Amino acid sequence: MRGGTAHSSGSGACLTPSTESIIRIEHITKIFKNRQTVVAVDDVTFEVQRGEIFGLLGPNGAGKSTLIRILTTLLQPTSGTACVDTYDIARDPEKIRGIIGVCPQNSTLDVELTAYDNLEFYGKLVNVDDDTLDARIWQLLKMADLADRAHMKVQTFSGGMRRKLEIVRAFIHHPLILFLDEPTIGLDPESRREVWEQIASLNAEKTTIILTTHYMDEAEKLCHRIAFVDKGRLIALDVLENLKRLIPAGDLLEIGFETMNEGVVSSIRQDGLINSVEVKEQKLVISAKNGSRVLPAIVAIFEKFSLPISSISIHSPSLEDVFIYLTGRKLDGGNGDLKPAGRGRVP
Ligand SMILES: Nc1ncnc2c1ncn2[C@@H]1O[C@H](COP(=O)(O)OP(=O)(O)O)[C@@H](O)[C@H]1O
Ligand SMILES: [Mg+2]
Repeated sequence: MRGGTAHSSGSGACLTPSTESIIRIEHITKIFKNRQTVVAVDDVTFEVQRGEIFGLLGPNGAGKSTLIRILTTLLQPTSGTACVDTYDIARDPEKIRGIIGVCPQNSTLDVELTAYDNLEFYGKLVNVDDDTLDARIWQLLKMADLADRAHMKVQTFSGGMRRKLEIVRAFIHHPLILFLDEPTIGLDPESRREVWEQIASLNAEKTTIILTTHYMDEAEKLCHRIAFVDKGRLIALDVLENLKRLIPAGDLLEIGFETMNEGVVSSIRQDGLINSVEVKEQKLVISAKNGSRVLPAIVAIFEKFSLPISSISIHSPSLEDVFIYLTGRKLDGGNGDLKPAGRGRVP
C-alpha cells in the first residue's frame, strides 16, 4: 500500500507521532451479533495521510459508517487496533474526541433552535473557551454563508443549509481531523457543490478530512485518495488515476468513418500499444491503455489510406467502471448481467 509503514499494535504503538500518517488502522474487524451475525468491517488495514481528503467509497451496507464510528470512538471493534494521531482508540477515546470533529450520517442539529444556538450549545459541549466562543460562532456562520440567518430556527433551513451548518459545527474547536459521513446525501446538485466547496476550504486550513460516500462524482471531485469498500472489506486504495489503471482494457476510443479499408484495421492492430480493434457499424472501437497516446498514430494511419475521420471520442474508465471491474457489481447495488469478478486487489 502507498505510504504504508507498518506499526506494531503493542503497547505505546500510537505514542510516536508520524509525520506522514495521522490515522493508522490495523486489522479492524467489527461483527454484530443480533438475530443474525453481520461482519460489518472485515479485517481492514490502511493509513490516512496528514492533510489529505480521504474517501471511503462503497455501496450501502459496505461498512463505511461502522468504520467511522469505530475511529470516532463511538463503537469498539471486535478485534484490531487503530491510532488517531498519537492516541489509541481503545486506550484514549477522550483524547481522540478532543482532536476530531464529527458530522454523522443522520443530522443531529436541533431544528427548534437557531443556527447560532446550535453552534453555541455544541461549542460548550466540546469546551470551546467562553471568551472566544461568540467570535468563533460568527466566523463559522460566515464560512457557511449563513450569518444573515444566525437567529433563525434551523427548521426553516433547506437541506443544504443544514448540512453546511452541521459541517462547520464539527469544526468549531479547530479539530485536526474531520469525519464526514455521507456529507451530501439527499442534497440537490447546487447544494452538493456548495458543500464540496466548503469541504475543500476546510481542508485548505490543513485539516485532514475523512469522508464516506456512495457517490462516485463526490469521491472524484474531492478526494486525494480513495478506498473502495465492499461487504466490509477494503478492496482497493489509491489515487484516482491509479485506480483507473486497474482496468486492463484501459481507454475506449471510437473513431467514426464513412468508408473503411481492411488495411487501416490491420495497421492499427499492429500498434503495440493497442489492446483490441473492432469495427462496429460506422465506427472503429479501439481499446488501449492510454487513449490519448495512441490517437496520433491512429489518425496518421487514416491519413495514409486517405480515409476521412468523421468523429473521435475517448472514454476513460470511471470510478464506477473500476468498482464493477473489482466486484462484478454496480455501486448502486444493481446486478445487471455482471458475473462476480472475485477479489484479490487488496493493496
Ligand atoms: N448496530 C448494528 N447492529 C447490527 N448490524 C449493524 C449495526 N450497524 C450496522 N450494521 C450492519 O453492518 C453493515 C454495515 O453497515 P454500515 O456501516 O452502516 O454501512 P454503510 O455506512 O457503508 O452503508 C450493514 O449490513 C448493517 O446492516
Ligand atoms: Mg453509512
